[in-house]
Amino acid sequence: MKLHWLTTASLADIAANHLTRKLATKPTAAIALPTGETPLALYRCLAERRQAGTFACDQARFFNLDEFVGLGPQDSGSYGAYVQRHIATPLGIDPAHLRLLRGDAPDLAAECRAFDQAIQEAGGLDLAILGIGTNGHIAFNEPGTDWQAPTHRVTLAEATRQAQRSLYADVAAVPREGLTMGIATIRAARSILLLAAGQNKRQALDALLAGRPEPAWPVTAILDHPDLTILADQQLRAAA
Ligand code: GLP
Repeated sequence: MKLHWLTTASLADIAANHLTRKLATKPTAAIALPTGETPLALYRCLAERRQAGTFACDQARFFNLDEFVGLGPQDSGSYGAYVQRHIATPLGIDPAHLRLLRGDAPDLAAECRAFDQAIQEAGGLDLAILGIGTNGHIAFNEPGTDWQAPTHRVTLAEATRQAQRSLYADVAAVPREGLTMGIATIRAARSILLLAAGQNKRQALDALLAGRPEPAWPVTAILDHPDLTILADQQLRAAA
């Protein structure tokens, strides 16, 4: 594991450099992208670099990590819409290179299987970029989740529903279920980049840095990954 403590301001830059290096080695890389507030600065940074002509991802293939059950990218509260707004449009990603997990698919079990199949067909994930939930979730893999599971349907924890404030003014409107890339799918990625920022992430980051796999903290499932990089806001350091 490589751990870098960074200022809030430099985290996005360093993450963007990491992705740029990955694409320089393999322009057709298959990449999983997180939603949430943490990666927004990264996406802004990539869009600026694209404008400046210093970043391109024309040949890369992209997958999102999770979605709410019942929603598709046409719904403004969906993660699919977030990906379109903050990533696909500003980075000019060819729709044929973006596979969104669809919470509005008629058969959700089949959608989960098809999603994993699409990742396989892309040659497996080269890089999974992850955020971290206050309860230690990665994607929508909540505490107690089966670490062997591929992409699957989940019931969202209350803490996870509460944390959707940037998308939902009214927490009661947050869907109760989600689809998530499974921990098995994430662990199979050739490399993982975890972004940890925000005061409410202290406990989850502590659990990770304690170095012991704990089912109550899903993020600890990636501890033994052979190519794991953690970029953590140095404001979280006192507790780590
Ligand atoms: C959300 C998403 C995760 C994300 C996490 C952290 O619920 N399902 O994929 O990484 O929570 O979000 P934030 O960066 O807003 O704290």
